[in-house]
Amino acid sequence: MCEECRELVDPKEVKLEEVFAKYKNSKGALIPILQEAQEIYGYLPEHVLKLISQATRLPVAKIYGVATFYAQFRLTPIGRNVISMCLGTACHVRGGAKVLEAIEKEAQVKDGQTSEDGRFTLEIVNCIGACGLAPVISINSNVHGKLVAEQIPEILAQYE
Ligand code: FES
Repeated sequence: MCEECRELVDPKEVKLEEVFAKYKNSKGALIPILQEAQEIYGYLPEHVLKLISQATRLPVAKIYGVATFYAQFRLTPIGRNVISMCLGTACHVRGGAKVLEAIEKEAQVKDGQTSEDGRFTLEIVNCIGACGLAPVISINSNVHGKLVAEQIPEILAQYE
C-alpha cells in the first residue's frame, strides 16, 4: 500500500493488512490471524471477518465457525467494564450462583455478552485465586469478595 493510500485508510485496517502480509504464505494461519485481528479491533466485527475471508480465500461461514468455536474470540465489542464472575468450586459452594443472578439482573447482561448500553461485559471464570474471599467477582482489576447478592447494585453503581 502506498503512503498516500495509508493516510486515507483506517489505521486499524492498515495494521490488519500488515497481518495479512505476514501470514501470506502460511497455510493454516487462520487462528493467529483472528487473534491478531482481535488485538487490533478489541473484537471481531463482521466487516473484519469478511476482510479475513478475502485475504485467506476461505468462506466467511468457515471463519465465523472458527471464531464462534473458540471462547477466546469475541464477536461483540467489550463493554466499558468487564465483570469476571468466579464460579470455581469455592465460589460455587458459597452462593456464587445467586450473586451471578443478581449481576445478570442488575447489569442486564448474560455470560459472554455486553450490555446494550455498553457499560458491562460479563464473563464467567474458574477460580481467580482468591478462594478465601469466595464468592468473588472482579470488575476491571478490582476484586470484590465475600459477596451476597444484595450488595451487587451498590457495587455496580461504582462503575460507569
Ligand atoms: S473458586 Fe472462586 S476464587 Fe477460587
